[in-house]
Amino acid sequence: MPLTDFLTELDSLQNDAAISFTAAADTAALEDARIEFLGAKSGRLKAIQKGLGTVGKDDKPAAGKRFNEVKQAIEAAFEQAQQRLAAGGPAKKAGPQFDITLPGKRLRVGRLHPISQTIDELKDIMGRLGFSAADGPEIEDEYHNFNALNIPLEHPARDPLDNFYLSVADSTSGASTGGETLLLRSQTSTVQIRVMETTRPPIRIISLGRVYRPDTADATHYPMFHQMEGLLIDRKVTMADLKSVLRLFATSYLGKDVHVRFRPSFFPFTEPSVEVDMHWNDRWMEFGGAGMVDPNVLRAVGYDPDEVSGFAFGLGVERLCMRRHGVTDIRDFYRNDVRFLEQF
Ligand code: FA5
Repeated sequence: MPLTDFLTELDSLQNDAAISFTAAADTAALEDARIEFLGAKSGRLKAIQKGLGTVGKDDKPAAGKRFNEVKQAIEAAFEQAQQRLAAGGPAKKAGPQFDITLPGKRLRVGRLHPISQTIDELKDIMGRLGFSAADGPEIEDEYHNFNALNIPLEHPARDPLDNFYLSVADSTSGASTGGETLLLRSQTSTVQIRVMETTRPPIRIISLGRVYRPDTADATHYPMFHQMEGLLIDRKVTMADLKSVLRLFATSYLGKDVHVRFRPSFFPFTEPSVEVDMHWNDRWMEFGGAGMVDPNVLRAVGYDPDEVSGFAFGLGVERLCMRRHGVTDIRDFYRNDVRFLEQF
């Protein structure tokens, strides 16, 4: 046999053996492959070895050398396959390692909480009406939550049963410090005062944030909820301006077919004061309170009530969101049930 033919046969044997050993999925298949290539009696390597005797005398050393190399390579490939199966590893197939016919995995995309989305939208609407957003602390002192808002000491709004008062303890001994009384703010009207204390008129702000009241949770009440406070201070501001702003706001948020109604009411920090109702989809609903800023409040922050006047309003954010989306129970916002939340 010519040397070239002998070498070609060796090459294809080595190639076939490598493929068979790599593809063997279990020990039985590997044993079959071993017998086919390395079998002592009728293995293909043995058959080629017989052909070695037919190679010309001068070519024998080269043929013998190559034969030994291929024999070692096939034995090494066999041992490697044995180790792979012992380790329990799957046979490495050529091509993709996944089933492209399986349905894809749906990615869960996160989103903002409906109340956060509402807050963003309200800021946007009021921003277009020229109101910029202001913030204030959620832990407040009595001065900003009551005194500066013209709420006298004996007023029932200060009742401990209607507020979350905080007892301020000494950080080392734990004993009460007897210092100033703090509470979780019960309304965002506190921000009116904080803004007026540091800003000269004209003022046109809104403040959106959490407020806290020990109300029993039911379909329309929650002990923590959000309010949108609005404050506009300038020369010659009237109730007509208040109604225009609230009507523009209501039509932007709920739609053109909304009606705004004022009912006489009382808040110590506005005079006159009103409850704000909106009619939409055949129903009236109360959204908050409003009024002309009381002259006593203007004086408390150093403004002259003969020079400037203004209006303020405070609306319940959850109630707005509920009305817009047909949510019938405020508690749904805070149950953290993803099936509810992911609808927004
Ligand atoms: C006030 O809090 C006044 N600060 C509003 C105001 C601001 C009047 C500026 C005048 C000038 P009231 O307590 O009515 O008002 O609350 C306003 C709105 O907050 C309510 O109409 C309601 O929409 C919402 N609200 C009140 N309590 C709760 C509660 N427990 N859970 C959910 N929303 C509430």
